[in-house]
Amino acid sequence: MKEEKIDTKKIIKQYDKYVIGNYSRLPLVFVRGQGSYVWDADGKRYLDMFPGWAVSGLGHCPQPVVEAIRKQAGELIHMDNTFYTVPQGRLARLISKKSFGGKSFFCNSGTEAVEAALKLARLATPEKKYRYITALGSFHGRTFAALTATAQSKHHQGLSPLLPGFSYVPFNDVSALEETFDDEVAAVLLEPIQGEGGINVASDEFLIKAAELCRQHNALLILDEVQSGMGRTGKWFAYQHTPIEPDIITMAKSLGGGVAIGGICASPQVAEALKPGTHASTFGGNPLAAAAAVAAIEMIDSEGLLARAAELGRHIMTRLAAMKEKFDCISDLRGRGLMIGIELDIPGAQLVNACLQKGLRINCTHETVLRFMPPLTATEEQIDQALDILETVMTESVPAIRSAAEPE
Ligand SMILES: Cc1ncc(COP(=O)(O)O)c(C=O)c1O
Repeated sequence: MKEEKIDTKKIIKQYDKYVIGNYSRLPLVFVRGQGSYVWDADGKRYLDMFPGWAVSGLGHCPQPVVEAIRKQAGELIHMDNTFYTVPQGRLARLISKKSFGGKSFFCNSGTEAVEAALKLARLATPEKKYRYITALGSFHGRTFAALTATAQSKHHQGLSPLLPGFSYVPFNDVSALEETFDDEVAAVLLEPIQGEGGINVASDEFLIKAAELCRQHNALLILDEVQSGMGRTGKWFAYQHTPIEPDIITMAKSLGGGVAIGGICASPQVAEALKPGTHASTFGGNPLAAAAAVAAIEMIDSEGLLARAAELGRHIMTRLAAMKEKFDCISDLRGRGLMIGIELDIPGAQLVNACLQKGLRINCTHETVLRFMPPLTATEEQIDQALDILETVMTESVPAIRSAAEPE
């Protein structure tokens, strides 16, 4: 069969004409992915250390997930939630076993998971409780409640008034949390590691205080594990590195091994409040996405990827610590497992673009934080190769970026 030659310029033109321009896209068309690599339409290969914005946590097209999708697609792609299907029950059981014995509700994205958690918190607590506390620098999604919970004003522009009842406290500020709490708080919503906010790890002290205040005031603790969950940090969920247990966790991104699926897991007692008619999702927990997620979870187990994420994370941090000695523009290194941030004292976007030119994909968030979230399946050689490219790019580009950033 003759393969069709893909014309990058033509595809971009098509987007310009027909796709809403709400993303600033780089001018590359990707056509294939396998493991830690993706290929563009011209056949150039890229080492992907930020696959699918943390969705492809098991790399591109992981074999067990591909097979599960193929099998399920041939049996039953979709069935509505009026009935039972096999994959959804299996997935909920696995999540319950991997977390705190809770019950799940499934949807299709992170923002929907956050919406479900926020609604559940209201439904599971007395009616007068309507307030939520979230942290500055957080990111929880783009639908209205999740957006209001997202305490970064740049995302709010042009959209006020937002939902009432949300208060923001500085991340890891225990006293601010205490001062903001009262009996009208229904829930505290926190990321155990802020992703979009620049890879900021919640302190144990902050999480313990949040859990304690929630208990005292009969409020719920929701942890947003959309980015930090599913083995990314070396444990199934990032909260498992801490002494606390949440009432609800949210999940999405890599849950489906690349397929769109989101969900929450809530303690059985809290979950009771989501009764028929209170919340729903037409596609939520459909057989195709649920089968992919089951395969993804089983793959993490069978390939020992939790231990691997922890081990690779240590390796990366050791190498980055050496780079920090060499490059004075690196001001901090943060993260856990394979969720890593490199804080710079210069803007990071140019470095990301220069890496891309050399066939490496990384990300920059919060202007100055390079984000490294390799697939859990990456090899040590691939990681070393990526860090070698980054090191070369920094040697070549940092002086020019610094002098351009300095005032005349
Ligand atoms: C912690 C967190 N929560 C929620 C979301 C929203 O997820 P989605 O884009 O799937 O709606 C994101 C997305 O980056 C996230 O990082």
